[in-house]
Amino acid sequence: MSALSELYEEIALCQKCEIAKFRTNVVPGEGPEDADILFIGEAPGWHEDQQGRPFVGPAGQYLDELLASINLKREQVYIANVIKCQPTGNRDPLPVEILNCRNWLEKQIELICPKMIVTLGRYSMAMFFPGKSISKIHGTAQKRDDVIYYAMYHPAAALHQQSLRQVIESDMLKIPSLLTQVETITEVGEQPQQLKMFEV
Ligand code: URA
Repeated sequence: MSALSELYEEIALCQKCEIAKFRTNVVPGEGPEDADILFIGEAPGWHEDQQGRPFVGPAGQYLDELLASINLKREQVYIANVIKCQPTGNRDPLPVEILNCRNWLEKQIELICPKMIVTLGRYSMAMFFPGKSISKIHGTAQKRDDVIYYAMYHPAAALHQQSLRQVIESDMLKIPSLLTQVETITEVGEQPQQLKMFEV
């Protein structure tokens, strides 16, 4: 059994949050263990809860289209969420839920060792770009410990707000060149708050 599959079994047993009682399925994430790119969304919605898979509803279909625009299929990337259970009533994740689930995401990152982590939306961005605002940093990246962190709007936001479509689509198009330039991008300081952002 792969290390990721073992992790999925552990995640499925997690009952730290109240919402674990109400889930149909836990949604740990999916993709190759050696994926170069890890996309991190917010939380499973109804469709994801039903299927136990991330981004399989309307936002997921749009994410598939965005991936296709850079010649990637979802099977080639890893897709996860900040929290692994659907929040009741589709509300935003609570701070305590994010905290309880953080360890699972950290273990996923450790096992996958992606070259690039793409945050989708505010909750995911807040974990890697603390104190930043999505409207300011979307489409910008930081390199830390050989990993590129790149912030994007959430695909669902672009579905609801037509004006964000072009923004998210052009941010997606920057990913391939960032990946090919990974060796040439200079690392920035160690404190996330003091990190210099670079525009791409
Ligand atoms: N929105 C998310 O943030 N994650 C999903 O898996 C689906 C929708």
